[in-house]
Amino acid sequence: METVGERFQRETKYGRRARPPATRILARPEEFKSYPGAPRILLPPPPGEEGPGVWRVMEARRSIRDFAPEGIPLETMARLVWSVGGIREKRWGFAFRIVPSAGALYPVETYLMINRVEGLEKGIYHLHVPTFSLELVREGDLSRELTRAALGQEMVAEGAATFLWTAVIDRCRIKYGERAFRYIYLDAGHLGQNLYLAATALGLGCCTIGAFFDDEVNAVLGVDGLEETVIYLGAVGVPA
Ligand SMILES: Cc1cc2nc3c(=O)[nH]c(=O)nc-3n(C[C@H](O)[C@H](O)[C@H](O)COP(=O)(O)O)c2cc1C
Repeated sequence: METVGERFQRETKYGRRARPPATRILARPEEFKSYPGAPRILLPPPPGEEGPGVWRVMEARRSIRDFAPEGIPLETMARLVWSVGGIREKRWGFAFRIVPSAGALYPVETYLMINRVEGLEKGIYHLHVPTFSLELVREGDLSRELTRAALGQEMVAEGAATFLWTAVIDRCRIKYGERAFRYIYLDAGHLGQNLYLAATALGLGCCTIGAFFDDEVNAVLGVDGLEETVIYLGAVGVPA
């Protein structure tokens, strides 16, 4: 019997004569998600080129899961955030970001669970991409709840912060139909690798996380798991 994964591959294939079934999406999701009532903390822009070269950083990158109980400065956090969500340039009506994305549609949203970042209260923040700001969407220490949701992986509680990436599925599906599911995960991979490389260049540790209870993480973020659903996490912190 065909498994769900095999069916996903088959139904999202491009053939010479066959296309994935078109999806009838009536309303295009907004290009940038925002929380209009939330307090917004403007992040400092990156200072420009410095630090080790890309080849050295690629070689030094590894998954680090043990973190020291130290915090990190807001400037450092801002550079990590930039590496996954910064706008590089505006051209032809598109806001091109630092990461590639199929059709420049950017279906992946970035949230942060802040544990220990100077100048930021503990809580869940959302990256408001057009203003390069963090929106505080939920105050308080959610580190235990999220660690449990991440199958008890302690790096979530011990890191300075955990990135939480969701996908607004229709932002990509409106153009690519069911093949969007492939592209969304590919897009997320680029964000994950950029976070690894940025953390390595800054002397920080990072580990991306694919093992979590989806519904529990979605509940922490307050997203419905259908229109918008968690797809990937990444813990960062000072290496132990
Ligand atoms: C999609 C994906 C999901 C992952 N999920 C987890 C995870 O849930 N827990 C974990 O400890 N490491 C996770 N990792 C990290 C891998 O275990 C790690 O990349 C692998 O062992 C190779 O080691 P390296 O990153 O140090 O080169 C994940 C990596 C990827 C790419």
